[in-house]
Amino acid sequence: APDHLVVFTPSGKRGRFAEGVSVLEAARKLGVDLDSVCGGRGICGRCQVQVGEGSFSKHGIESHADHVTAWNAVEARYTSKRGALAEGRRLGCQARLCGDVVVDVPPDSQVHRQVVRKRAEAHPIEIDPVVRLYYVEVAEPDMHDPSSDFRRLQNALAAQWEVADTRADLALLAGLQKTLRAGEWKVTAAVRRSGDIVAVWPGFREAAHGLAVDIGSTTIAAHLTDLITGEVVASAGLMNPQIRFGEDLMSRVSYVMMNPGGERELTASVREALDSLVGEVAREAGIARTDVLELTVVGNPIMHHLFLGLDPVELGGAPFALTIDGAYEARARDLGITIAPGGYVYTLPCIAGHVGADTAGVVLSEGPYLKDELTLLVDVGTNAEIVLGNRERLLACSSPTGPAFEGAQISCGQRAAPGAIERVRIDRDTLEPRYKVIGSDLWSDEPGFAEATAATGVTGICGSGIIEIIAEMWLAGIITQDGVVDGGMAARSPRIESNGRTFSYLVREGEPRLAITQNDVRAIQLAKAALYAGIKLLMDRYGVSRVERITLAGAFGSHIDVTYAMVLGLIPDCDLAKVASAGNAAGTGARIALLNAASRLEIQDVVRRIEKIETALEPAFQEHFVNAMALPNKQDAFPELE
Ligand code: FES
Repeated sequence: APDHLVVFTPSGKRGRFAEGVSVLEAARKLGVDLDSVCGGRGICGRCQVQVGEGSFSKHGIESHADHVTAWNAVEARYTSKRGALAEGRRLGCQARLCGDVVVDVPPDSQVHRQVVRKRAEAHPIEIDPVVRLYYVEVAEPDMHDPSSDFRRLQNALAAQWEVADTRADLALLAGLQKTLRAGEWKVTAAVRRSGDIVAVWPGFREAAHGLAVDIGSTTIAAHLTDLITGEVVASAGLMNPQIRFGEDLMSRVSYVMMNPGGERELTASVREALDSLVGEVAREAGIARTDVLELTVVGNPIMHHLFLGLDPVELGGAPFALTIDGAYEARARDLGITIAPGGYVYTLPCIAGHVGADTAGVVLSEGPYLKDELTLLVDVGTNAEIVLGNRERLLACSSPTGPAFEGAQISCGQRAAPGAIERVRIDRDTLEPRYKVIGSDLWSDEPGFAEATAATGVTGICGSGIIEIIAEMWLAGIITQDGVVDGGMAARSPRIESNGRTFSYLVREGEPRLAITQNDVRAIQLAKAALYAGIKLLMDRYGVSRVERITLAGAFGSHIDVTYAMVLGLIPDCDLAKVASAGNAAGTGARIALLNAASRLEIQDVVRRIEKIETALEPAFQEHFVNAMALPNKQDAFPELE
């Protein structure tokens, strides 16, 4: 029989094959990235190719109708069940060579599809998850050739997919016989790269989901992710129930110190919360919770330890020793979380005693280690976790900013929620403020503002609002460079009020009355000085006086106006066009670990290479801190703001 030339685009791979060989077989032989879940049985439709030049019909193809007549019985069945193939498309497993052809593998037929992210500077995610689906036809039991059902499943995976050395634990085996019979010996297995069979369903199945979880001290957020398309299909969040043991991290550690066995209560409460989130997102997406195949988790070191059931007490004081720093895998079942019977939970590595798996997630999401550009990553929570570096070198530290940036310790501060003031402008002449609250697009001096905010009221000022207000007060001359609310300005505006020895600035009259006091300004100065000093320490260590890009991660980072952050000197001078928020980058990092197996090895390797700086041990920290108390800084200039 004659040989036929096949050329695949866009890869350009080519080869000669005998007549009758399928496109899928040719692609496999040539290493062309063409997907298949059903193993060439014409069920999954994932092997679709677009016919470029040549044809699969002896008579040639001139129109779509010719393609349709070229379909074989399997394709005809496929289209009757699953809907038509697009014009010029064939199932790669069915189209057989009968002449020279050029076939295109469209992006949706590639195993290693890429998810392009919204922000231009974020690298795309290549979809290549740890868990994959395999449709198999298992041999039926035979009295003359006795072997177990599981053995025959293993043999089918090995013979039909070259997936060898599979194993399963009891939770999965318990349901196996029923599943095999329900599927009439045709089943889909989800298998991890480790060989662990995670789930088995009767019949053909193409949906695979995983859950990326970010355990914050305040909230736990979960994103159910489609492991085929990479898309987030459902999200849910809830308050971290550990709050009842202490509002902030340190008080939770104290609870454990004071109540022997208390760590078990904290562990149980966070695991229960996570388990209920699994149920919630599964419901929202219309799947069973046992269809969730894998969980990836990020969190700060204390959350990470408590979730895994590790005592966090050593993290409560110097030298802040972690129990483990590497990534960790546990069976979900062992953590009391119900997903697929053989499903695993993967936690990202921690960087240091203060710099957790959440920061590892930010690093994985932003990929500074892939770039030449010197990038500063800042994740502001109760602590600021800071990473500086590029391809050459990465440094990390944490800085004790305290919770002021989140609106705590501020007289009229509150969490970011509807009704909180988030934007503020102060008239340079009259010193009158205008503001916007979360949940409304109107400024307070625009008509309709009262109606627009009637439902929520104006309740307080959130972290980003406080940054703006203090920056505006400084720009309007209401506070001095040292952060003193200038009593001399009281002559110009009744909004500058005396409180005895200090002054405050009245933002809003009425109920509630909102004012920025001297103590509020101090709290922000202390927080921002700590943040800046930590950043400077890393810049010193790296030996640079400028960074090329600044990325703010976390909720704080996504609300804040970066210009005001720079006006107050929270962050160093940088081209404002290169200062941006990355949103929940820690959660994105967890999602990447879910979607791409290699990223897990990558982040473990990167984390090992990160130079960890302990701010408490650095004499220069104090000096940088004192300089950074001034607005914006006693020492450093901010030419980009001019
Ligand atoms: Fe599944 Fe072709 S490989 S339809």
